[in-house]
Amino acid sequence: MQSDEEGEVIRTAEISARERYQLLISLVVPRPIGWLSTFSADGRANLAPFSYFAALADTPMLVGASIGQRGSAPKDTLRNIRETGACCVNVVTESQLEAMNLTSGDFPPGVDEFQAAGLPMARASLVNAPYVGNCPAVLECRLHQEVDLGSPSSTLVIAEVVAVHLDPTLERAAGTQYVTTESLRPVGRLAARAYALIGEIKKLDRPKVD
Ligand SMILES: Cc1cc2nc3c(=O)[nH]c(=O)nc-3n(C[C@H](O)[C@H](O)[C@H](O)COP(=O)(O)O)c2cc1C
Repeated sequence: MQSDEEGEVIRTAEISARERYQLLISLVVPRPIGWLSTFSADGRANLAPFSYFAALADTPMLVGASIGQRGSAPKDTLRNIRETGACCVNVVTESQLEAMNLTSGDFPPGVDEFQAAGLPMARASLVNAPYVGNCPAVLECRLHQEVDLGSPSSTLVIAEVVAVHLDPTLERAAGTQYVTTESLRPVGRLAARAYALIGEIKKLDRPKVD
């Protein structure tokens, strides 16, 4: 670690994995949460949150989640996506924050997190995956590509959104498909146990360059 009057420069190769994790998740904030629901090959439902999660492209419509390992084995979500080629992304909103947190528990593979968190399960229409029945916005996805992110293993799952479910309570800006943030009330992840709720929303026009 180097220090001068301009502050610290931390060389990431010289700190521990835990410290890299702590810096990354406290500086890349707030992060959207992909609350991923999947079926195993034998039809057992699984639900877990991932905040190494991002929108990647609109055509094709792609999202990505980076999934770590549990010990030396893939997490259930990754194993299931490999088995079925599908998942649903449930958008985490204020009213489901506690339920989302419950589903991050280190449950053994056989446990259905829908039941553990008391959430209703519904079945996707186009892909072989469940979703949170009372979640206001859900993306039905098909596996597009898997990218190995190196060792110790993390895997970036890139998935194509093939259908979008919207609850009638969600409003759209007039004449567009923009879902209003005020009606969605999404939650973002900050560092450690902290989450960001929607506060003041500022709107800016894009600069006009002649
Ligand atoms: C808000 C939140 C975000 C998380 N983000 C990630 C993530 O991006 N990648 C990851 O591997 N685990 C992440 N976790 C931990 C997983 O949710 C946890 O390991 C879960 O048990 C995995 O479940 P599964 O084995 O059913 O797939 C996160 C947990 C929380 C609470």
